[in-house]
Amino acid sequence: ADDDADDDSQEIVAGTAPGFEPFEMVIDGELVGFDIDLLEAVVEETDYELAGWEELEFDGLIPALENENIDVIAAAMTITDEREETISFSDSYYSADQSVLVQSGGDVQPDDLEDLEGLNVGAQSGTTGEGIVQDELIDEGLIDEGDYDSYDNYVLAVEELERGTLDAIIIDEPVAESFAADREVEIAFTFETGEEYGFGVRQDDDDLQAALSEGIEAVEESSEYDEITQEWFDE
Ligand code: ARG
Repeated sequence: ADDDADDDSQEIVAGTAPGFEPFEMVIDGELVGFDIDLLEAVVEETDYELAGWEELEFDGLIPALENENIDVIAAAMTITDEREETISFSDSYYSADQSVLVQSGGDVQPDDLEDLEGLNVGAQSGTTGEGIVQDELIDEGLIDEGDYDSYDNYVLAVEELERGTLDAIIIDEPVAESFAADREVEIAFTFETGEEYGFGVRQDDDDLQAALSEGIEAVEESSEYDEITQEWFDE
């Protein structure tokens, strides 16, 4: 993004991956959610201007950032060491753990990860949920590689759960809660991962990174953060 001719503000384009309620979803053709409102409020606190949003698949966000198709990722993206090898993050704006979702009232009622032995498990491609499937289930010999189904979008995985063609999904807890409220799925159990969500930027974009962190702090100190939280979560 280039300097705007009319003023000193720099335009930035944000990227997200909808289908991750209540953080980002499309309702009546409109992109809405916690991350959308929060990033917009945060950018308002900075000298940058938000020129628009790109909707991408989750595993396409980091490549799009690196290609400069987008300038910031706002997608409930967890700050991880692995991702920090290629991109940078703002300070954290939300904390989450992971849950296991199953069909409501179905036969599969696991109490812990070990109970997932031999089951068909799904997660969204490129997520930390997928990382857990790999590290805690496949690498531990609980399920085979072929028992794991990778989805472009968690909504597709939830539909398979409802149909009974998938046994369990590993997904961020706040999103699991939202799907459980709206669909025929329920949380079997939640386990602590201590994930922190940050806005992703290119590694050389130090100014944007600092501006976003300062913007998050300002929004948290004002009443805005609580207002946005209240709007999207039943809290
Ligand atoms: N927090 C998880 C991660 O960073 C899942 C994020 C998925 N976000 C999305 N918009 N689909 O891997």
